[in-house]
Amino acid sequence: MMRSTVSTTSLPDDSFLGRHQFLLYRLFSLAGLIPVGAFLVVHLLTNSSVLAGAASFQARVDLIHSLGPLLPAIEWLFIFLPMLFHAVMGFVIIATGVPNVGSYSYMGNVRYTLQRASAMIAFVFIFWHITQLHWMGAPLGGGQFDPHHAASSAAVALKPVAITLLYATGIIATVYHFSNGLWSIGITWGLWTSPAAMQRANWLSIIVGVGLGAAGLGALGGMRSIDVEKAKEVETRMYKARQLLEGGISAESAQQSTHAVSVSRVSSGATDEQGISSKNKE
Ligand code: HEM
Repeated sequence: MMRSTVSTTSLPDDSFLGRHQFLLYRLFSLAGLIPVGAFLVVHLLTNSSVLAGAASFQARVDLIHSLGPLLPAIEWLFIFLPMLFHAVMGFVIIATGVPNVGSYSYMGNVRYTLQRASAMIAFVFIFWHITQLHWMGAPLGGGQFDPHHAASSAAVALKPVAITLLYATGIIATVYHFSNGLWSIGITWGLWTSPAAMQRANWLSIIVGVGLGAAGLGALGGMRSIDVEKAKEVETRMYKARQLLEGGISAESAQQSTHAVSVSRVSSGATDEQGISSKNKE
């Protein structure tokens, strides 16, 4: 039997959550699609641009960071807060949800369970991922992503095999959760009600899931196969060029530091971080 109801919680009727269960569930469901799901799609596609080379990825990161001081506000308003809301509500749903083992088809039960299991893996993974790479994680020993050296800093952070495997697990769980959620969101909002429509929606979920999974895992593989030294060189040139455009440094000093980078690389193979230690700040 296909799943036909969205109300899976057993909250006390007189509690705040119980009284506003319908509205909160709708907001939770919507947040999973927009903005959190939309962000996930953009994020994985942006990351997969590393497959076209470090410069391609750096150009996209620069575009995002051109928002400057607005970026943290946008991140909190459109990503972190909606994600926290969805996650908190998700935990309430998991904690109070009736298992309903008898009411679903075998596949329905498997998907119901996987949706919850993938939610918990996604929560742990996203928390760790933000701590490890986002500048907010710096006080906890993370914050390893340098927006001026996008591909090379990500490559260094993701290189250890154990980290790569954890990322692969987190990406698969998050992508499964979102793409299976696309199917169940249509149930929540009454978009597909007939078995035939649900079957078509299944295909939508599968296509989105496979596409996003390929983008996410492709990005992971792309980051790992980056030549860190070459990427740093390209990123440094792009950084200098940007500074030039913004009038931050004179043409002469940009020329000199780019030259110094090439000379130091030829003579020692060392990395070139002089003058670009403004890690994680724009
Ligand atoms: C990138 C992060 C996430 C995205 C894009 C996302 C997206 C979605 C979507 C689209 C749905 C379907 C909503 C519906 O059926 O109406 C959903 C369901 C769900 N989400 Fe998330 N989610 C994310 C993270 C999380 C996290 C961290 C949790 C925390 C535990 C969570 C818990 C749940 C639960 C429990 C459901 C199933 C609700 C039900 O079937 O009754 N999600 N999610």
